[in-house]
Amino acid sequence: MPVELKVNGRSVAVDAAPNTLLVHALREHLRLTGTHVGCDTAQCGACTVHVDGKAVKSCNVLLAQVAGRSVTTIEGMAAADGTMHPMQAAFKECHGLQCGFCTPGMVMSAVDLCQRHPGANEAQIREQLEGNLCRCTGYHNIVKAVQQGAAAMK
Ligand code: FES
Ligand code: FES
Repeated sequence: MPVELKVNGRSVAVDAAPNTLLVHALREHLRLTGTHVGCDTAQCGACTVHVDGKAVKSCNVLLAQVAGRSVTTIEGMAAADGTMHPMQAAFKECHGLQCGFCTPGMVMSAVDLCQRHPGANEAQIREQLEGNLCRCTGYHNIVKAVQQGAAAMK
């Protein structure tokens, strides 16, 4: 039986085993390759998506666990006309990325963080993003981007 859920606002039926990892269902069955696989062991955060509005590591969730729920990936963050989400725009403007591998997961975690803690300070942002690893930037511009994105989301 296909597993039915919503992805980026659209109803989909994924014809995969219920114990398929969500990240693999998104990438291999729905071709949403913006969600990356960095470790496959719930450490790096590159696979972060939203499930019912909350950030989760999709390498740590089974497809069966999201049946009937709403999943948002980085592809679902921009407006219908292509305008970037304020957090995406902030990452671009603040140079919060280099190779970009970690960026989709960072953006998804950052948006969730700002929804939960709209007034987060630098130390809180660093603490909240500790589950998202970046090999390139040294995190400094990522923190700036999250602060700018948070202000734009208010
Ligand atoms: S691939 Fe999921 S946390 Fe690294
Ligand atoms: S920008 Fe390269 S891993 Fe973060």
